[in-house]
Amino acid sequence: MDVIIADDYACMSRTAADIFAAHIADKPTCVLGLATGSTPVGLYGELVCDCSEGKISFKNVSTFNLDEYRGLSPSHEQSYRYFMQKNLFDLVDIDPANTHVPDGLCTDAQAACNNYEKLIAQAGGIDIQLLGLGNNGHIGFNEPADSFEKHTHRVQLTDSTIQANSRLFRSADEVPREAFTMGVGTIMSARKIVLVANGEGKADIVARTILGPVTPQTPASILQFHPNTTVILDKEAAAKL
Ligand code: F6R
Repeated sequence: MDVIIADDYACMSRTAADIFAAHIADKPTCVLGLATGSTPVGLYGELVCDCSEGKISFKNVSTFNLDEYRGLSPSHEQSYRYFMQKNLFDLVDIDPANTHVPDGLCTDAQAACNNYEKLIAQAGGIDIQLLGLGNNGHIGFNEPADSFEKHTHRVQLTDSTIQANSRLFRSADEVPREAFTMGVGTIMSARKIVLVANGEGKADIVARTILGPVTPQTPASILQFHPNTTVILDKEAAAKL
């Protein structure tokens, strides 16, 4: 696991964007695994600039997002599909048909999860996966548990995640209780992983992820076993390393 400590959020975002831009430039047909949340907003902004300046093109890039709330439509302002449209897809030259986010409204959850895995396999697997880090150590919506879930699945969100994400809703009551997420196995199958985290609120969980025991109670700790992971932090998030 490589760890890069950037001076600040802007520098963390640019450093991560450089890794993604280099992948896209090297392999214009590459398959990106993408995350939502506050942390990657700056990184997406940098990639949008790179694209508008003609440094990279998403024309032949495919994307698979980590997760989606169960029950939210793509047009719901807090859905992850909506987030991706506003922060990246609508702002670059990507073919909408090549963008994939789990369907929050699917009726047959198991079939939809199996199909998501199949689509990733058909695309040739994920070349580079972006991850944020939940305050409780979740990656995607793989919450602390007694074992690691391998494949894309339906998950119950923990109270801590509902509380953390309620900042984006009018109240905690409005946060969906369930989601669909790639499994830990899906994530670990990516050829490269980039995890970004910023702010002092992430310092404890960053230290547990990187230095603590590998345990499903800290899902991100499994990344210690991935052969090609880069963690990019700002100084505040790195404070307890
Ligand atoms: C979202 C996702 C989550 C977030 C995590 C951190 O697609 O996969 O695991 O990365 O909850 O969220 P922020 O960046 O808002 O702190």
